[in-house]
Parts: sequence; structure tokens; C-alpha cells
Amino acid sequence: MTIDRILKAASVIPVLEIATIDAAAPLAVALAAGGLRVVELTLRTGCALDAVGKMKNAAPDLIVGMGTVRSADDIAASRKAGADFIVSPGATPALLDALAASGVAALPGVATASEAMTAEEAGFKALKFFPAEAAGGIACLKSLAGPLPDLVFCPTGGISAERAPDYLALANVACVGGSWIATKAMIEGGDWDQIQMNARYAAGMKR
Ligand code: 3PG
Repeated sequence: MTIDRILKAASVIPVLEIATIDAAAPLAVALAAGGLRVVELTLRTGCALDAVGKMKNAAPDLIVGMGTVRSADDIAASRKAGADFIVSPGATPALLDALAASGVAALPGVATASEAMTAEEAGFKALKFFPAEAAGGIACLKSLAGPLPDLVFCPTGGISAERAPDYLALANVACVGGSWIATKAMIEGGDWDQIQMNARYAAGMKR
């Protein structure tokens, strides 16, 4: 699966942190029932790798990416777990090399023009823009569009449901990511109805 195809399937990508494996299946079902096709599951908890398979079994059409990937070992473990694509918060030279060598669909994270150019040199034209709001948000993305017209961004970090449409209106934004669709508290509380409602709202947002 290419990153272009994945980005075509989603305007909004929920960023998920799953603390207990039991949450994986009902969470996947709620997000898919709300109409979302693509998720980023962060590699920040002990059960994150196991959760990939559980989510895909529960919602077979869901495209599950592994986020918070920081090393070549993380890439290998994520692929072994069945992740469809990789997302990183930043992009070190070693990580970019490992991503390029693996050939896996990926959104390397960048926050500046130099980082975006380094990622482009490594062969990546679709990038996570993180931490979006703290790194300059919409004004920064508008400024990057002129000198870097070939690149598209998936801004993530501090983006609320209210701000998401303004990001999606930018020509160089392919999709937005955020944890507001399924927060840690909602997941821990098993609030699947709320998550499905948020997913439906997010799925209605178009580029
Ligand atoms: C991420 O991991 O990409 C961000 O921490 C998600 O950001 P948010 O919680 O501010 O939406």
C-alpha cells in the first residue's frame, strides 16, 4: 500500500494510545463504524504492537499505521506486527535511511523547512508536520507551500475538531491527525459511543 493511497482514504487520522489490549477491538469497531478508514496507533504502550493485529481482525477494512516510531528496530517490529504504514514524530538521518530501505509507506515527522528538505532528499514527499500548533500551525504551512510546492503534510499535535477544517482547507495539507476523536480517557473509559460519534464527525470533514 502506498502512502498516496492511504492519504486518499482519509482526511482525518485519529492518533491513538491504547493502554490495555482489551480496548483494541472495540476501539477499531467504533472508529470504523463512524466511517474512518485510517488510524495511527502510537508505539507508546506495552500492548501497542499486539493491538495492530487485534484492530485489523476486528475491523478488516481499517488501515492501521504505527506512530511514534523512532528507530530501525521500531520499524521492523511495527512491520512484523502488521502495521500498514509508519509515522514518526521527527526524522533523524538514521530513521530516514531505515524507512527508505524498508520501502514501507511512511509519514516521517518534520517541523521546519530544513527537516522537510532532508526528508524529501531521502525520497519522502508526504510528511507529518509535528507538533503542528506549537510549530507555527496554519501560518507555517502556508509559508512552506511557496518554496516547497511538491510536499504535502499531515499536521498533528494540538489540532482540535474546531481547527481541523482550517488545516484541511490548505492546498499542501493531505489530512490532519489528532487524539481528540478517541482520547486516552475515552479509550480507558470504554466510551465507544462517544468515539463512534466523534469518528462520524471527523469522517464528514473533507479536504
Ligand atoms: C501525536 O502523537 O501525533 C500527537 O501527540 C497527537 O497530538 P494531539 O494529542 O495534540 O492531538
